[in-house]
Amino acid sequence: MSHAEDHEGTRRDFLYYATGGAGVVVTGAAVWPLVNQMNPSADVQALSSIRVDVAGVAEGTQITVKWLGKPVFIRRRTPEEIDEARAVDLADLPDNNDRNANKPGLDAADENRSMDEAGEWLVMMGVCTHLGCVPLGDGAGDFHGWFCPCHGSHYDTSGRIRKGPAPENLPVPIAEFVDPTTIKLG
Ligand code: FES
Repeated sequence: MSHAEDHEGTRRDFLYYATGGAGVVVTGAAVWPLVNQMNPSADVQALSSIRVDVAGVAEGTQITVKWLGKPVFIRRRTPEEIDEARAVDLADLPDNNDRNANKPGLDAADENRSMDEAGEWLVMMGVCTHLGCVPLGDGAGDFHGWFCPCHGSHYDTSGRIRKGPAPENLPVPIAEFVDPTTIKLG
């Protein structure tokens, strides 16, 4: 996709805004603590739907946005991450449910969890299903996806639990592309 190249090097800030019109600007390459410090007002936190500009998200990186008071990971995966996620034998998964609010009840195949058919985009709640810590990303853990250091839960490149005490895969929230560079949550 060319839009990432278009925006590469521009270092523009990510903009996400509520459908109601109230704007919140979040700095680029956002990591959760940074977003958290933005401390949006209570009415913004309560909005059930937000739009996230993902034009500046380069392949192999992710952003974290706050939605309904919780972190949401939006990752643009590399072909290697997608291949790794899709090569997994579902019999090896502790939780074989897709946990995808957009198409619930399917198995946990990566195709049932990613946003697009090619699997480039993965959107998940950034909340460990054990006791609610925020897992570390960018290839963390034994399965190169996310790792929760609180009690050692390892998630793969599809956000599926593979090892440790967390019982479920990271949930995929209601999300859709409303244009090629904007994801709407909720
Ligand atoms: S809260 Fe993540 S492993 Fe316990």
